[in-house]
Amino acid sequence: MNTKSLVSISDLSRDEILALLEDARKFELKPNRRLLEGKVVATLFFEPSTRTRLSFETAVNRLAGRVIGFSDASNTSTSKGETLKDTIKMVSNYADLIVMRHFLEGAALYATEVTDVPIINAGDGAHQHPSQTMLDLYSIYKTQGTLENLTITLVGDLKYGRTVHSLIMAMKYFNPTFRFVACHELGMPEEYKAFCRENGIRYTEHTDFSPEVINSSDIIYMTRVQRERFADILEYERVKDLYNLNNAMLSEARDNLRILHPLPRVNEIAQDVDDNPKAYYFEQARNGLYVREALICRSLGIKVED
Ligand code: CP
Repeated sequence: MNTKSLVSISDLSRDEILALLEDARKFELKPNRRLLEGKVVATLFFEPSTRTRLSFETAVNRLAGRVIGFSDASNTSTSKGETLKDTIKMVSNYADLIVMRHFLEGAALYATEVTDVPIINAGDGAHQHPSQTMLDLYSIYKTQGTLENLTITLVGDLKYGRTVHSLIMAMKYFNPTFRFVACHELGMPEEYKAFCRENGIRYTEHTDFSPEVINSSDIIYMTRVQRERFADILEYERVKDLYNLNNAMLSEARDNLRILHPLPRVNEIAQDVDDNPKAYYFEQARNGLYVREALICRSLGIKVED
């Protein structure tokens, strides 16, 4: 595997995470730089995306590189039966970096095994979404002034939610306390709870999104119940409306509380939260641009100056 690939958030050490956040800060101050002149970045999206694909492509454009790729694999030779291996090998002939999203867990790791071109995992099934986690960390740091000793409440689809899985793994360096709020069907998988125990991360599990939980949180991280992950649509219908946040629920919250959501949302955050100063999800998505500029430069071995 190319060491500049990013497949899992666990590919990054604490120091690398902090260095990337520092680079993101530099890009926020000055997003337009000619660092990618002559470079071609491929964005291969086998699953739908708005923010991740557009922010990666914006990042390349703002750094003066060129983008190739697709947002709908049905328009590619995949629809003729071409394998993922062959697709990756072909695109490796053309691009210096591949950013890919795929519906299969492990697809990005597999891609690293068939090419020497660095791969950035833009989401693989219910597994990992490491670039989202980096922008989540940047957002947490910006709003809290620290990553250390925070109480973070994860709400909704904790079973299939790749963003919460990656976030737990990244936070192991920063002594968090997690609250997992989910119904039984969408609870945090055992492997991530075991990860917490093995790394000394405190967590509690709740089925009730109660005032006690809300009012003692520094971060509330809402997630969408993902219809596309359910084999049984009736099970989706049963659980899709269980956790909703509205403005009235925030009346006694901590001053420093911020609401994050990887987006897209469906109905889990009411529109009346949007004007509350604690709502941070649109700024969070904006932070994705700066963080992805930093990640692209890391993968291409480009140093970021002030
Ligand atoms: N947060 C996120 O991954 O959004 P998209 O699916 O729109 O890329």
